[in-house]
Amino acid sequence: MQWDQRFAVRTAHMKRSTIREILKLTAQPDVISFAGGLPAPEFFPIQRVQQAVDVALSERGQAALQYSTTEGMPELREWIAARLSNEQITIHPDNVLITTGSQQGLDLIGRVLLDEGDRIIVENPTYLGMITAWRPYGLDYVPVPTDADGLLIDALEPLLERNPKLLYVVPSFQNPGGFTLSVERRERLVKLLAQYGVPLVEDNPYGELCYTGKPRPSIFGLDARNLGITTPDGHVIYVGTFSKVLSPGLRIGYVVASLPVIDKLVQAKQSADLHTSTLDQFITYEVARDGFLEQHVAHLCEVYRERRDVMLAAMAHYFPPGVTWSKPDGGLFLLVTAPPHVDTTLLLAEAVERKVAFVPGADFHVDGGGQNTFRLNFSNANPELIEAGIQRLGDLLKDAIVQPVH
Ligand SMILES: Cc1ncc(COP(=O)(O)O)c(C=O)c1O
Repeated sequence: MQWDQRFAVRTAHMKRSTIREILKLTAQPDVISFAGGLPAPEFFPIQRVQQAVDVALSERGQAALQYSTTEGMPELREWIAARLSNEQITIHPDNVLITTGSQQGLDLIGRVLLDEGDRIIVENPTYLGMITAWRPYGLDYVPVPTDADGLLIDALEPLLERNPKLLYVVPSFQNPGGFTLSVERRERLVKLLAQYGVPLVEDNPYGELCYTGKPRPSIFGLDARNLGITTPDGHVIYVGTFSKVLSPGLRIGYVVASLPVIDKLVQAKQSADLHTSTLDQFITYEVARDGFLEQHVAHLCEVYRERRDVMLAAMAHYFPPGVTWSKPDGGLFLLVTAPPHVDTTLLLAEAVERKVAFVPGADFHVDGGGQNTFRLNFSNANPELIEAGIQRLGDLLKDAIVQPVH
């Protein structure tokens, strides 16, 4: 069978990443990998999850192993609704849809909102998983320039005049840049959303992992306040996850939105997977309730703050002049910019030979730029490995600046 000729036309937009193939090599134990977006596994609350499994199975085993509703476990939806409600916005559990990771939330949003040729405004660089999830729709991604305070509002306004379908933003401790949209820009942004009547997807996996300053107010809440409402019926679809604050292996994410949006997403999710794993929802609820998650996040923030600081200090020490990097206030990533003649995609193979890995930045950029950038994760390796890995990268960069890899 000639399968290549049988695939749907839209699959032409899907491609297996060559970088992924190289990154498979980073599974070797002696490679220090800053490539994945992985939390530190040594801090997974394994005992607490073990207890939660026991409770879920002993007290509610029949329900935990049964099919359940597409919307998700009522108690978990209530818990999320209460946690996200604040003085600006009151969220009802009906406004919450549990998804299989926030990645599924993004995928479902694409299914129900996007048509071929739609113009989507994104930060540049932006989250690769969104680009790949939505690319099959044949979109016109329109990049907004960004700086350390997130997307530039002055550059955004003329783009809003070009009738975009929606904006996609990772407002806090962004992946891959590590930058954060300032509160002042958030306030200006929600005014523009109202003025132009454009929806926005707020993808916020990292907002609570804040190491400098306070967690920033959500665009979601600011939009409601700007509209003078207290319900999630404004312009924003909010996407969240337990992956970075608890465990990505549980695959529990959520979308919070106005009821008509949730209703459509439920229809799409029904055909995608009927519902998210019932047992995993029960476990997540049992682990998260009773204030455990708050304590756990506070601990993660201490550990990750130290790792970020170790990485920043090591970079200042080992990286050669001409290389710059972002200084994130939270999250898991920072972005390094090498001199323009250094192609980091070519450099990766050499890096892996020297037993260190990163993700080249080009794929995160929707404007074809970023070839001289790469993303580093600072949560997964311990401080000693971070120091050693950055030293290796520093040596590599010194060589690459003098003699670029071709
Ligand atoms: C910005 C962003 N959105 C969504 C996701 C997907 O996370 P998950 O599906 O594990 O919730 C990630 C994962 O790295 C991310 O960085």
